[in-house]
Amino acid sequence: MNLPVKRIGVITSGGDAPGMNAAIRGVVRAALYRNVEVIGFSHGWEGVINDESQLMDSKAVGGIIDRGGTILRSARSAEFRTPEGRVKALDNLKKNEVEGLVVIGGDGSLTGALKLQEEFHFPVMGVPGSIDNDISGTDFSIGFDTAVNISVEAIDRLRDTAYSHERVFVVEVMGRRNGFIAIESGLAGGAEAILIPEVPYSLLDICKNLRSAADKGKRSSIIVVAEGAARASDVKVFIEKNTGFDCRYLVLGHLQRGGSPTVFDRVLALRLGALATNRLLSGFRGEMAGVDGNKLVSHPLTYVLSTERTIDPEKLLLAEVMAK
Ligand code: F6P
Repeated sequence: MNLPVKRIGVITSGGDAPGMNAAIRGVVRAALYRNVEVIGFSHGWEGVINDESQLMDSKAVGGIIDRGGTILRSARSAEFRTPEGRVKALDNLKKNEVEGLVVIGGDGSLTGALKLQEEFHFPVMGVPGSIDNDISGTDFSIGFDTAVNISVEAIDRLRDTAYSHERVFVVEVMGRRNGFIAIESGLAGGAEAILIPEVPYSLLDICKNLRSAADKGKRSSIIVVAEGAARASDVKVFIEKNTGFDCRYLVLGHLQRGGSPTVFDRVLALRLGALATNRLLSGFRGEMAGVDGNKLVSHPLTYVLSTERTIDPEKLLLAEVMAK
């Protein structure tokens, strides 16, 4: 990368997350502020491979800060995982005279970015965008706060009808490999049990707890399940069979990925998009922008991708205490 840089690229890749548009805005406006042009590629790595490129001016990112999804669209690219796919991507970055790329996405997308840099010395910067919040090197990834707020709103609504009908409700939230959304929304929604992939659980024990709570007069309960821990439908059947309680379930699914981002996600996304861009334009590369508390940080992607983000044990204990 020759300083000063004239043109950079930006993509959103992997599962979309509310706030990705604000991150694009952060990237584009921070670059334009420094008289650097921005090329947006559509459909993540797929769009780089197929050269779906567009020059993004200030207007291109106007009126999008409140919009969920991503105006650049997103995809999970199988072709980019092949060496041939990455060569095609590199050719198109060069053809578009792009000197560095900001990648907004989850761990899969950031792994792709690091590969591009390691194989071809092409400068990349990462911005963590994923509702899962499972990326190391940042306390929060873009979209998590919105997804949790959506889940809690659903739990609050279900609690009303669970109370009226004296039922158990099982709510399945996203999280294939981890329970960050489940723990946060379970705590905030006052769940009686939270099942996550990281911690072994016994459905028989949960049934026992539900029965003893009922003996003490509790007539309705909410159980939050991360999709990677169990299917809500199976939990519902098990509970009904083993307790005789009237039970219903709801899978929130992709509802958690849509809608207007919260204020927290908007500001986080603007800050991380601008930080990644500023560092790229100052000659840094191979890093991911993040927050530590409320402080901006930028860590090497090699560290981010080799470190597992684990759930705070204090929150696990709190969930257990609150369920009693
Ligand atoms: O990684 C984000 C995420 O929403 C996960 O929570 C979920 O398991 C997965 O993506 C769903 O992926 P898809 O949109 O491809 O069905």
